[in-house]
Amino acid sequence: HTIFLKDYAPSPYRIVAVDLDFDIFDKVTIARAQLSIEPEAETPPGTPLVLDGDGLSLSSVAIDGAPLMQSAYASDANSLTIVEPPQRRFVLETEVHLDPAANTKLMGLYRSNGVWCTQCEPEGFRRITYYLDRPDCLAVFKVTLTADAKLAPVLLSNGNLVRAGDAGDGRHFAVWQDLHPKPAYLFAMVAGDLGSITDSFTTASGKKVDLAIYCEHGKESQCDWAMDSLKRSMAWDERRFGREYDLDIFNIVAVSDFNFGAMENKGLNIFNDRLVFAQPESATDANYAGIERVIAHEYFHNWTGNRITCRDWFQLCLKEGLTVYRDQEFSSDERSRPVQRIHNVQGLRSAQFPEDSGPLAHAPRPDHYKEINNFYTTTVYEKGAEIVRMLATLLGETAFRKGMDFYFERHDGEATTIEAFLAVFADSSGMDLDQFKTWYLQAGTPQVSVRDAYDAENQTYTLELDQLTAATPGQLEKSALVIPIRFGLIGPNGSPMGWSSVSGAEVRDDMIVLREDSAVLRFEGVANRPVPSLFREFSAPVQVHADRSQDDLLFLAQHDSDPFNRWEALQDVSSALLIDAVDGKRWDDKALDGLRQAALQTLDSDTLDDAFKALALEIPDASVLGQKIGKDIDPARIHSTRKDFIAALFGPVVGTLETAYEALTSNKPYAPDAAQAGQRALRNQLLKLIVGAGGDDALAVQQYSEAGNMTDRFAALTIVGTEWTHDAAGLLADFHTRFATHDPLVLDKWLMISARADDDGVIERMQAILADPAFPKNNPNRLRSLVGSFVLSNPVQFTRADGAGFRFVTGFVADVDARNPQVAARVLTGFRIWPILEPKRREAAKAALADLQQSASLSRNTADILGRMLAD
Ligand code: ARG
Ligand code: ZN
Repeated sequence: HTIFLKDYAPSPYRIVAVDLDFDIFDKVTIARAQLSIEPEAETPPGTPLVLDGDGLSLSSVAIDGAPLMQSAYASDANSLTIVEPPQRRFVLETEVHLDPAANTKLMGLYRSNGVWCTQCEPEGFRRITYYLDRPDCLAVFKVTLTADAKLAPVLLSNGNLVRAGDAGDGRHFAVWQDLHPKPAYLFAMVAGDLGSITDSFTTASGKKVDLAIYCEHGKESQCDWAMDSLKRSMAWDERRFGREYDLDIFNIVAVSDFNFGAMENKGLNIFNDRLVFAQPESATDANYAGIERVIAHEYFHNWTGNRITCRDWFQLCLKEGLTVYRDQEFSSDERSRPVQRIHNVQGLRSAQFPEDSGPLAHAPRPDHYKEINNFYTTTVYEKGAEIVRMLATLLGETAFRKGMDFYFERHDGEATTIEAFLAVFADSSGMDLDQFKTWYLQAGTPQVSVRDAYDAENQTYTLELDQLTAATPGQLEKSALVIPIRFGLIGPNGSPMGWSSVSGAEVRDDMIVLREDSAVLRFEGVANRPVPSLFREFSAPVQVHADRSQDDLLFLAQHDSDPFNRWEALQDVSSALLIDAVDGKRWDDKALDGLRQAALQTLDSDTLDDAFKALALEIPDASVLGQKIGKDIDPARIHSTRKDFIAALFGPVVGTLETAYEALTSNKPYAPDAAQAGQRALRNQLLKLIVGAGGDDALAVQQYSEAGNMTDRFAALTIVGTEWTHDAAGLLADFHTRFATHDPLVLDKWLMISARADDDGVIERMQAILADPAFPKNNPNRLRSLVGSFVLSNPVQFTRADGAGFRFVTGFVADVDARNPQVAARVLTGFRIWPILEPKRREAAKAALADLQQSASLSRNTADILGRMLAD
């Protein structure tokens, strides 16, 4: 059934304090809860109290110490109803027995590698005890953990440790207390035999915080980078947002079975171990950057998420969009801002844009859902972050910071809404944000078309802008959005060009604010024909349609003062040529020469940094191109056109690329810093182009064998492994034996590449991998590395015209769904591109989805995705 935002109502009862007691045994965990509950002032006497449960079995229930009579309550696996609760404060006591080892859904309390751990967001706490499992129910928690001292020497929960000691019989206990009222989704506990590293951080006001990262024994030395990232995050949040940490302890635990990236539980973040462990020989530069980002993200949630949380799950992007914005800003300050921006936009285009134009499109703040777990999406997270970024752009840095300060002041300790968030900025700046709010309510990527003209005689430059958002499922009418367009006009010599006056829309020095469906801007006093640079820094998450000449684009690539648009211009040149070629219109040599020259100029520049150069040399990937083409696409054709294009573009200059490649070779000891990582990124980009241009992978094979770190080794393996040449099979086998067998995170890399080969044998090889009895078929990382990469990174084989790719994935989904619905549903979302495929592939995809829909007993997660995917 469907849950609607408009039906939101506060709970008639409030839980003020929670006392939890976990008695942990190898086979069973006994969970006793004492909930101090009181009715709200307005609650009519006799209003039943209904607590959430999920798969629970109740052993006993009492109120204020007295067991309840059968007639006083009703319970089943999914709820506990107290028929007539006292009309004053009372303590409800329940006991349930849990079997964490059998919990393959990895929600609630489960065991990972023998370690007891929890995941509660969004609705996992109800799998631990009966509760008002909703984010607007805030309570203080006291948690007692008792377990065998050998099996679980480490006992952790939220907040501060208040007591610990011997419990007899070889058992011990620990009592944790968290005095910050919090919703149940931020509860966490961990019990197990874990190693750790420790450190400390002194806050701006002089408070010492003890830091620890817990992990599997033997992995301690791989946690240093995460610890370093944590300390930098803590310092950054003080500097940039004036936010200090508020407890004496901050703990992180790395676990190997985890459905997502990580979780911001108060004072006890739990992480997927792939986002904690790093050492040069097994982690890539991208892994290091990812760890830094996610450590920061979860830490930043302490203020944007925990101190101020969401009133209901429709408001998810209140905490996620804002926190992603904050982690992006952190990465930009720690590394190169332009490079960071380009990475984020690449991610948005390759994941969020397809979601926003397909069957799963939804507003950043949806107004209904069937399964909230299916709304932890790139739209809520990444588009949510873009919306906050636009807000900062429109307000300016000072007013934005002032608004944020006001947000923390006004809403600290509350569970709140998007409306309240926007009101803070409206109130503190005086800006009317009513229209801006539409960004949160409307699904779909706005399409902005641009036409311009220059009238030399009158020295007038005209810029015509239109916005249009196409209908999305369930949302046919769209209204105009406020679109901040950072811009500049560039004169013939490359320098900025001014104007004497402008009319037609709101224009500030470097920003046009488009509010209508269309606008015609007239700039007077423009001395020469300018080349416009629009959407600098990608100032709004829109798709731009501007018919610009290759000359103008190459001019921008060379002269734009905005690095993002310099990068964008080169991408646009390549895209235009590639899209024409997919269409059957071959590129002409002159156009290719121009692009090649611009690419070499970029490579040669001594002002641009290596990381930027690496990105500038990137040829738009097949999925981004497919998205741009937008209908009747044949991924195999796009893929092969792209290959030919790279060969034609760089074939004539392989020698130059090789020289540049050699020059970037370094024998410095590995460091994960941005400068070194940039150098490796450029060198590996060159390697990819050299192999792509010459078709000879010998250099990649050589790099693979000589590499002194995983970044270089994996880059080489990726180049060879994705095109299934003779060398690929051997190299993959070598990688498996030498590096992957004893390190699950390296095994993931092997699985990823195994899924990405573009030859017809790939499906059979994946089937063999999954059928191997030794394959850990309940571990989300392993499953996603194989099938997730197949769906997202192997468009050629996934969308095979014979449907074998689709059926492989639906078969997998049907199988995994019974054990872990979240992994199944997530993988299934990869089908979202099916409506834009060419007819044969489209029919094959639809048939596979329709077949899956026939399977008995699909989870709500998977049924929901499937239903939306097939709705027309
Ligand atoms: N709040 C966590 C984070 O953003 C992610 C929780 C994911 N939960 C889910 N059901 N997908 O870091
Ligand atoms: Zn988050």
